[in-house]
Amino acid sequence: MYIEKLVYGGYGLGRDSEGMIIFVENAYPGEIVDVILKKVKRDYSIGRVVRFRLRSTNRLKPECDHFKECGGCCWMDYPYEEQLKAKKEIVSEQFRRFLKLDPEPFIREVERSDVIFRYRNKLIFKAFFDNGEMNFGFVGNEGYTKISDCKVAPRIFSDIKNYVERILNAIDPEVFRGTVRNLGFRMNEEGDLAVLFVSRSERIPNEGEVFRLLLREFPDLQIVFVHNARSKSAFSGKVRVVRGDGYLIERMNWFEYMIPVESFFQVNKNITMKMLGKITEILCPSKREKLLDLYCGVGIFGIYFSPLFSKVVGVDLNERAIKFARANTKMNKVKNCVFLKDDAVNFLRKAVRKKEKFDKIILDPPRGGIGREGMELIAGLKPKRIIYISCNPSTLVRDLKILLEKGYEIVEVQPFDMFPHTYHVETVALLDRGEGMK
Ligand SMILES: C[S@@+](CC[C@H](N)C(=O)[O-])C[C@H]1O[C@@H](n2cnc3c(N)ncnc32)[C@H](O)[C@@H]1O
Repeated sequence: MYIEKLVYGGYGLGRDSEGMIIFVENAYPGEIVDVILKKVKRDYSIGRVVRFRLRSTNRLKPECDHFKECGGCCWMDYPYEEQLKAKKEIVSEQFRRFLKLDPEPFIREVERSDVIFRYRNKLIFKAFFDNGEMNFGFVGNEGYTKISDCKVAPRIFSDIKNYVERILNAIDPEVFRGTVRNLGFRMNEEGDLAVLFVSRSERIPNEGEVFRLLLREFPDLQIVFVHNARSKSAFSGKVRVVRGDGYLIERMNWFEYMIPVESFFQVNKNITMKMLGKITEILCPSKREKLLDLYCGVGIFGIYFSPLFSKVVGVDLNERAIKFARANTKMNKVKNCVFLKDDAVNFLRKAVRKKEKFDKIILDPPRGGIGREGMELIAGLKPKRIIYISCNPSTLVRDLKILLEKGYEIVEVQPFDMFPHTYHVETVALLDRGEGMK
């Protein structure tokens, strides 16, 4: 089978003799491969290469010992320039297939990350018990994988993780089995570090001893504990700050932000700064205008753009994020921002009912997007410009379709490489109210 191109999910796309689409793991454009099928669906299958008849000359020696096993960076053996081209094509394909639009007039080249290794400021390892030992690793194709060093995150994360494994195994691995769920890390640009223990119980066994030994080796570490018995998302649960402030400070040009260790923050700071620059450029702000920052988190965008608007309203469902967004306005002496704890769609319903006016709207929803009702409500508010920030191109185009139906027009789509070596891509889409709507 001939591999035509790379697609979302990181697969190489090929076709069998009947033309049926097969998504092939770790196969690159131009390769000719023999495949066995792992999963067969009605309109496509997923396959694994059993033999390379022709290998791509683009292939590189991967920088990581865990490549292919850990389930993380699927393109680490592929040149960075080619990764960027593939990501542009992945985003473009969504516009072609779902919106029946030729994206060439509005899509830009993918903005590169200046740092392509050790770029992550956050990492979450998953606990597992193997051969009488507690380990923290990742879940790949073949199950749990032990990790000695994750090359896309700071080396210190793996060093501390390896040390925690030694502590738990020296105390008694059996007592931690099934209790400790995850070990997470956060680091800011200054190198301040925090570790998060996520546990099914309110405390982990021998907690005092574990933390004492950890701090003896890493004395400046902040420690945060998350009691999470059920949720799939590791950091959701009851937060207890064991040591330190429970937040890290991030500076973004003229503002400083307190970011709670367990809260959302964009994982690649280099790209975040580039995104802020791009959004400033396309917002076309005016001091007379009002900005809505939906899914605002700790208020990064709202506060950053506040000097350019008369008023900013930020909305997020996460209570702690809103508490910190408010604290961030105070810390930065910003007077024109209001942050509200609410569901985004619920907020929009009320705003439409009250005929509130927003000139510009930024929305940065989680992977699932905002959905039809949210998009219709946004269109109902008739903002002049909408900036949709998305980490999932398929929900992005699904949502944009509704704005297009309502008369909005796509002006520009700028993909950003927030996650080098993976197939993930962050996209900023700019839409303007169409002539017919004015
Ligand atoms: C991708 S993050 C963006 C955060 C922020 N814009 C930033 O860059 O730091 C998504 C945010 O949406 C929030 N969220 C999730 N579901 C929500 C909902 N239904 N309504 C409002 N906010 C929600 C999360 O708490 C999270 O802060």
